[in-house]
Parts: sequence; C-alpha cells; structure tokens
Amino acid sequence: MGEAEHPRKIARKARYVIAVTGASGSVYAARLISYLGTLDVETHVVVSSTGQTVMRLELGHGPEEFEGPDIFVHDPGDFTAPVASGSFEVDATVVVPCTMGTLGALAAGISGNLIHRVADVALKEGTSLIIVPRETPANRIHLRNMLTLAEAGAVIMPATPGFYHRPKTIADLVDAFVGRLLDRMGVANTLAKRWEGPEDLEP
Ligand SMILES: Cc1cc2nc3c(=O)[nH]c(=O)nc-3n(C[C@H](O)[C@H](O)[C@H](O)COP(=O)(O)O)c2cc1C
Repeated sequence: MGEAEHPRKIARKARYVIAVTGASGSVYAARLISYLGTLDVETHVVVSSTGQTVMRLELGHGPEEFEGPDIFVHDPGDFTAPVASGSFEVDATVVVPCTMGTLGALAAGISGNLIHRVADVALKEGTSLIIVPRETPANRIHLRNMLTLAEAGAVIMPATPGFYHRPKTIADLVDAFVGRLLDRMGVANTLAKRWEGPEDLEP
C-alpha cells in the first residue's frame, strides 16, 4: 500500500519533545537541544517556570537561547501548543532533568502544565517517554513513582555517567550521558562513548 492509503504515514522530519524542569542538571538539556539543533530534525522545547530559574542559575541563560530553524520553544502554560495533542506525532519525549514534583504529577496522571501533558500524551499514545529524574537521596515516594512510570511504559534514565572512559572534563561527562540519551531516543550520534575494551582507553 502506498502513502495515500495511510494518511498518518506522511513523510516528515523526526520530531522530539524536550521538557526541562527545575531540577539541577539543565546542562544535560541544553547539550541535548543544541545537538538536536545540528541535525535535520524538529525539536520542541518546554521549560517549566522553575526550570527557567534553575537554568539561569546554572547556565546563565534561559530558553530564549535555544534558537534554530527547527527548534520551537513553547510556554509551559500553553495547552494550545501542538505538542499538547496526541494527534501531533512525535518520535520521542524526554523530561530532562525531571524534578520529584514533576515525577509525582506524571505518576499520578495530573496534567497541570504542558510538561505533564506531553509526558501523559506520550504514555497514552505509546510513544517513547524517557525520564531523567534528579534527586538524591531518593525517598520511597520517589522510588514508587519511578516504578509506576516504568510500569506505564516510561524509561527511567537517571543521569549517572560512567567513569570507565576516563572523562577529563565536565563536558566529557555531559556528552557521554547525552549520547546515551540520544541512543535511547533512537538518534544516531557521535557523543556516546562506545566501549571497545580496555586496550582502547587513552592513557
Ligand atoms: C537551584 C534549585 C535546584 C533544585 N534542584 C532540584 C533537584 O535536583 N531535584 C528536585 O526534585 N527538585 C529540585 N529543586 C526544586 C524544584 O525546582 C521545585 O520542587 C519545583 O516546584 C519543581 O517544579 P517543576 O517540576 O514544575 O519544575 C530545585 C530548585 C532550585 C531553585
């Protein structure tokens, strides 16, 4: 059957939703968004109100810095944004970093802002939802919420970069994690460090 018989299968660019909340680690989101901006893909960004505060504290800028012809920044209160609807097809949704507050809202199915909504949409549509929770230590409520979301189909991917590649800088650590995140999103990338045995290690 050709495309005409499958109207939902119209060719389009790969499309990703990156939701950023007010947990520490906005550098991961910024690196992910800037990397996606170098590819021929569409990137939709939503940063929560506290996410914007934390981003300014940690990076010295807010979401206005995310610029590119295929980068679309949505207001976290705008439920009329296309990404709020399950009819708007996306390939993967990532919440990075994810606060325990947002984690709780997602686990409870509460759609209080556009971030909660895009994650809820991913779960109901059965598309890829990757959550990067950030808090330490984790209490039982956090752990239960992660399990609830994993059981609902989300991938729980804490930002715990490995050290076996002998990272030299913070950028090395960030890239190694963002590379693995891109892997999980199904995006071919050169950021992830591929383990090829100890003989491959730099001295
Ligand atoms: C500088 C700063 C760092 C924070 N780091 C975390 C964190 O790592 N994890 C977390 O769960 N909350 C953290 N918080 C608290 C959340 O931002 C707060 O609970 C907020 O209500 C979350 O809202 P959001 O999930 O809509 O972004 C932090 C707040 C600030 C100001």
